[in-house]
Amino acid sequence: MASPQQQVSQDVRRRVTACYVALTEDQQISGYYTLASASILLSDLPAQLGKKLPRYPTVPATRMGRLAVDQAFQGAGLGGALLADALTRCMRSEVAAYALLVDAKDETAALFYQHHGLMALPSRALTLFVPFASVTGMAQLR
Ligand SMILES: CC(C)(COP(=O)(O)OP(=O)(O)OC[C@H]1O[C@@H](n2cnc3c(N)ncnc32)[C@H](O)[C@@H]1OP(=O)(O)O)[C@@H](O)C(=O)NCCC(=O)NCCS
Repeated sequence: MASPQQQVSQDVRRRVTACYVALTEDQQISGYYTLASASILLSDLPAQLGKKLPRYPTVPATRMGRLAVDQAFQGAGLGGALLADALTRCMRSEVAAYALLVDAKDETAALFYQHHGLMALPSRALTLFVPFASVTGMAQLR
């Protein structure tokens, strides 16, 4: 079975994801995240947000498929910094997307994203999102 590192490398080669890594001074990977194009069903968004968007079935999004910090580096701010880096990268892109979308692997991961201002989709507690238009006020980007 492929290791997570082999799987990500294969996905990057096939252009189904992009991967960004944080390196230590001696070039060890301390954390990473992936980004790929995605979409959100308009009907999955909270009604008060959906009603302000064009009446297409879906809105464009960017999915952060994985975000992980090596255990030796957890609790030192790297996870938050990687999330801020992902948001900044997405917002600099010339290709428009409405929101960052993440699939949290469990409730603990979902709490990490909620701590940083992401909201769960009403029908799916482990799928969280944040509209890019609301991100400029987030503490990490100030
Ligand atoms: C979740 C994970 C990425 C967090 O990374 P980290 O580097 O340990 O987190 P940070 O030190 O950057 O934490 C930043 C802030 O988030 C908070 N936080 C961290 N994990 C949290 C959690 N599970 N729930 C709520 N808040 C959390 C911290 O208290 C900190 O708050 P502060 O800025 O107000 O002091 C890391 O624990 C990890 O890789 N876990 C395993 C993989 C995983 O669950 N990935 C999630 C994607 S599915």
